[in-house]
Amino acid sequence: MAKGFKYHAFEVLGIILLLINQSEQLQSSQTHTLLRLQLLLNYPDVLSSWNSSVDFCNAEPTSQVTIVCYEESITQLHVIGNDGTPSLPSNFSMDSFVTTLVKLPDLRVLTLVSLGLWGPLPGKIARLSSLEILNMTSNLLYGTIPHELSNVTTLQTLILDDNMFSGWLPEWLGSFPVLAVMSLRNNSFNGSLPDSFSILENLRVLALSHNHFQGELPDLSSLTNLQELDLEDNAFGPQFPRLGNKLVHLVLGKNRFRSAIPTELNSFYYLQWLDLSFNRFVGPFPSSLLSLPSITYLNIADNKLTGMLFENTSCNVELKFADLSSNLLTGLLPSCLSDSKDRVFLYAQNCLTAGKENQHPLPFCRNEALAVGILPHSKKSKPSKFALAFCITGGIIGGIVLLGLIFIFVRRLNAYKTINKPTTRLISEKASIAYTSKLLSDARYISQTMKLGALGLPPYRTFALEELEDATNNFDTTAFMGEGSQGQMHRGRLKDGTFVAIRCLKMKKSHSTQSFMHHVELISKLRYRHLVSALGHCFECYLDDSSVSRIFLIFEYVPNGTLRSWISEGHARRSLTWPQRISAAIGITKGIQFLHTGIMPGVYSNNLKITDVLMDQNLVAKISSYNLPLLAESAGKVDHGTSALPKDSSSRTRASYEDKADVYDFGVILLEMILGRPSKAKREVEILKNQLQAVVATDDATRRSIADPAVQTSCSDQSLKTMMEICVRCLLKDPAERPSVEDVMWNLQFAAQVQDAWRGDSRSSSPGGSPSQPANLPVAFR
Ligand SMILES: *[C@@H]1O[C@H](CO)[C@@H](O)[C@H](O)[C@H]1NC(C)=O
Ligand SMILES: *[C@@H]1O[C@H](CO)[C@@H](O)[C@H](O)[C@H]1NC(C)=O
Ligand SMILES: *[C@@H]1O[C@H](CO)[C@@H](O)[C@H](O)[C@H]1NC(C)=O
Ligand SMILES: *[C@@H]1O[C@H](CO)[C@@H](O)[C@H](O)[C@H]1NC(C)=O
Ligand SMILES: *[C@@H]1O[C@H](CO)[C@@H](O)[C@H](O)[C@H]1NC(C)=O
Ligand SMILES: *[C@@H]1O[C@H](CO)[C@@H](O)[C@H](O)[C@H]1NC(C)=O
Ligand SMILES: *[C@@H]1O[C@H](CO)[C@@H](O)[C@H](O)[C@H]1NC(C)=O
Repeated sequence: MAKGFKYHAFEVLGIILLLINQSEQLQSSQTHTLLRLQLLLNYPDVLSSWNSSVDFCNAEPTSQVTIVCYEESITQLHVIGNDGTPSLPSNFSMDSFVTTLVKLPDLRVLTLVSLGLWGPLPGKIARLSSLEILNMTSNLLYGTIPHELSNVTTLQTLILDDNMFSGWLPEWLGSFPVLAVMSLRNNSFNGSLPDSFSILENLRVLALSHNHFQGELPDLSSLTNLQELDLEDNAFGPQFPRLGNKLVHLVLGKNRFRSAIPTELNSFYYLQWLDLSFNRFVGPFPSSLLSLPSITYLNIADNKLTGMLFENTSCNVELKFADLSSNLLTGLLPSCLSDSKDRVFLYAQNCLTAGKENQHPLPFCRNEALAVGILPHSKKSKPSKFALAFCITGGIIGGIVLLGLIFIFVRRLNAYKTINKPTTRLISEKASIAYTSKLLSDARYISQTMKLGALGLPPYRTFALEELEDATNNFDTTAFMGEGSQGQMHRGRLKDGTFVAIRCLKMKKSHSTQSFMHHVELISKLRYRHLVSALGHCFECYLDDSSVSRIFLIFEYVPNGTLRSWISEGHARRSLTWPQRISAAIGITKGIQFLHTGIMPGVYSNNLKITDVLMDQNLVAKISSYNLPLLAESAGKVDHGTSALPKDSSSRTRASYEDKADVYDFGVILLEMILGRPSKAKREVEILKNQLQAVVATDDATRRSIADPAVQTSCSDQSLKTMMEICVRCLLKDPAERPSVEDVMWNLQFAAQVQDAWRGDSRSSSPGGSPSQPANLPVAFR
């Protein structure tokens, strides 16, 4: 197809030069250079006829060896070795080879194919300052493209296919003024394409297939001469690239495109070859592509394209190949495709009614279509904030179950905890109660959750709606955990037995998917030991316009109740020891630190509450709701201005002390952990803080007397004092005076150390009663 036009001009040029130069006699120094090259190439078969008496300029050109001279100087050298030529021996030096080569200073066209050349391409190749075509296909060259090449401003064609070049493409590659062909197929280049590619206005062919490129492409719409673009088998995406409409040959197959197919493609009147296969293109399949005036090859196989085909859908007469298989198409086979014998037409694995075999039932395509989403580029969404509340709990449940088992033990059992968001509070408390009996009857979930582990989470992924329906028995009320202003929470159990918490966010119909992508990206990064981590998402879309109707966010299920249930709501047998409290506090600060600095952009003002800190079966604390700028404008509209944005006030102050709101909230949690009683209102916090402040300066006994009775005997004086001090500082009115998260963490770790040392000293009198079981006690109630 597109191959024909690529190098045609140069073949013509070659022939003309051949004619002109029929009778040239080569300079003897250049003859000598050629023979030296022959030696350095280890006398390949294709050069077996070369010897000192050969008249190189007038030798008969062959398909493998051609030399063209002009005025006693070589201007073209083509040497094409046999396929599969092995690498040259280890005494070969690419550097000496090129040093010899540049003694042919007038070379304009250099083809060195399949010669076993190995090594980095030396920068001195740029001494061939008139070079127009460089073709070094099928060698074993590695490293990067040397910067010196940028000096060869005459370069029109650069072909380095089938080598082992690697690294990022440099920005200067876009600076060649007359570059028409760039072909770097089948190497190990990675990174994204430099923006400078968008000014290579003479470019006709850009072939980058079979590399490790990734990310979005630069805007190529101003490359009005671009005819062939081959990006197959990379990791480009997710957006469809912006392209000029003169393209003849477009291959985006086997990449990571996840957008819709833009309608502009309908104006690509020169397009002959279109391959979009093996991506995740979504949205409607524009069946008008079948009737593009030049189209001969169309492959959209293995995507998630939806839409209906009609019997009367028309197609271009020249269309010889159409592969629509493995999509979500419905309707009838277009007769223009199915009736013709000299066409290849593939359509298996859709939901077409006329198709005989290998079609899914209609509901399959419908459900699948609902489970994908993620539409393509278009309008920007202005990010507004909304608090995503999760109510993953299990509250009391685990508490009762583990009752006599857990408790005190093991200083090694690191109980880390984290805190979180406000909106959740009601939800989680409700849910814990509602859930208790259900979960008790289902003890197996605990071992399942253990498999998920703190760090051993399954990779983030997209879920299919069907899968979620299965997991929740069609969102049955028995799976219902609670409802907040941002939608409902369900507990689900996946096919592999894993329990998950599923939050469903209802969208207004007017919202299309595209703007959610970067939120999803952010959510997908929320995976950390001290966060209730995200496992995946699922978009439910309306079939007609692919706008989002609901978003499901899937989180790990944390079974062991809220931190509060282990502190002030706990009773004697379910109360964290002092060392456990310290490590829970450290866990919470780690979670906060992750939210602030572990992801970009950081997530601040999380309105952390003790009820939003959930405990897993190893008593690791996890923050269960955080201030996601999720779902932008839609969120605000969806919840009709109710109380969904509790952190409003603190987000206003964020500009100056964005991290200090969380420090204050952490102080409130710490206060409850130290004193063992909840503080209901801000005023109460203030009073308790003042009390604490007053005793910090007094003596050990006084301090101990106001601490939670449950820990009074198990804490060391120094660690209690340190905790109280840091707590008071976190609760200071002036955000500027509050400690940084790092400062807090440092102090907590100090408290843990002195506590540890103290425990070591007083092990025999260690309070808290009987030695405990190891951490994986759920065995006990299987
Ligand atoms: C490389 O070694 C081979 C023998 O292994 C020898 O024939 C050849 O001349 C050597 N080439 C160079 C360039 O030294
Ligand atoms: C050079 O090669 C030609 C054939 O390609 C052969 O006829 C001739 O004898 C060779 N000359 C020498 C000096 O080897
Ligand atoms: C470069 O070499 C390859 C492999 O022989 C060939 O297919 C291609 O036509 C060459 N291109 C040019 C411009 O010489
Ligand atoms: C390009 O050539 C100039 C002059 O020959 C030289 O000074 C410069 O270093 C070269 N640039 C590169 C990138 O090699
Ligand atoms: C890539 O290049 C290697 C040699 O460098 C070759 O063996 C292989 O077949 C090529 N792969 C493709 C897909 O062209
Ligand atoms: C790109 O390739 C280079 C060299 O192979 C490697 O050092 C680098 O880590 C790669 N970068 C990415 C982002 O894969
Ligand atoms: C094709 O058929 C559908 C219904 O079968 C009809 O709505 C549509 O107008 C027809 N289109 C053309 C171009 O005839």
